[in-house]
Amino acid sequence: MLDLHGALRKSGRDGTAARRRFTVTAIVSDSERKMKTTTGYSTLQILLHWAVALGVVFNYIVSEGMGRALDQQIQSQPVTVSIASLHVWIGVAVLVLALLRIALRLALGGPAAQPGLLGKVSSATHGLLYLLILLVPALGAVAWFGGIDAVAEPHAVLANLLVILAGLHALAGIYHGVVLKDGVLGRMFRPA
Ligand code: HEM
Ligand code: HEM
Repeated sequence: MLDLHGALRKSGRDGTAARRRFTVTAIVSDSERKMKTTTGYSTLQILLHWAVALGVVFNYIVSEGMGRALDQQIQSQPVTVSIASLHVWIGVAVLVLALLRIALRLALGGPAAQPGLLGKVSSATHGLLYLLILLVPALGAVAWFGGIDAVAEPHAVLANLLVILAGLHALAGIYHGVVLKDGVLGRMFRPA
């Protein structure tokens, strides 16, 4: 679709910079073309979206005392914080489900972003949410199973960022459903 050679010919003396620019554009447009565009999500994609969302919110609420639990774990003392194993295993489940979600998204694709700046903001938010649902439990697991205290704080800080971003994302979803009534909210409830 891109006339790469024509563009480079036209660029004349500035050929090297143009080649670099057009090559990057070609790579981006190529990866976009490879991602399948659908009218909505499969039943499994929808179930995974809500299971991950529930797991994230649950673990955010059930996290008090985890700092103390980690200290006990690192010092090989008995862990006396009652919610610790719940937080750890729900978090591990989120990590596994998130990996499955991302694999499914790559295999099945999803709806195209809306055109314009809002579409770009929405795609960027979704990308960041995908990154955080991997990174937050992964850092937690490194802290807990690896006994590495240095990643405990990044884990807790990024968990806050994840919940804030998910809150804004949920508000955007509700705005679509209540104000715009454009079917976007329904996409996460009814399989395509
Ligand atoms: C989506 C998943 C997760 C979320 C939203 C989450 C959320 C949080 C939050 C908010 C805290 C701070 C608690 C506080 O300061 O009182 C925390 C701490 C902690 N979490 Fe998670 N967590 C998740 C997954 C995991 C996993 C998978 C593990 C381990 C396998 C884990 C282990 C820990 C540990 C060890 C701490 C203590 C960190 C510290 O010393 O400050 N978390 N988590
Ligand atoms: C921790 C909580 C949540 C996380 C991590 C999360 C994550 C995501 C991600 C990564 C996507 C992109 C799907 C894709 O195209 O591959 C998405 C889509 C979506 N989410 Fe969430 N979400 C959360 C909570 C919610 C809530 C509470 C709502 C309800 C208001 C919601 C409504 C939607 C809708 C409607 C879409 C489809 C958007 C579209 O098709 O353009 N999400 N979510």
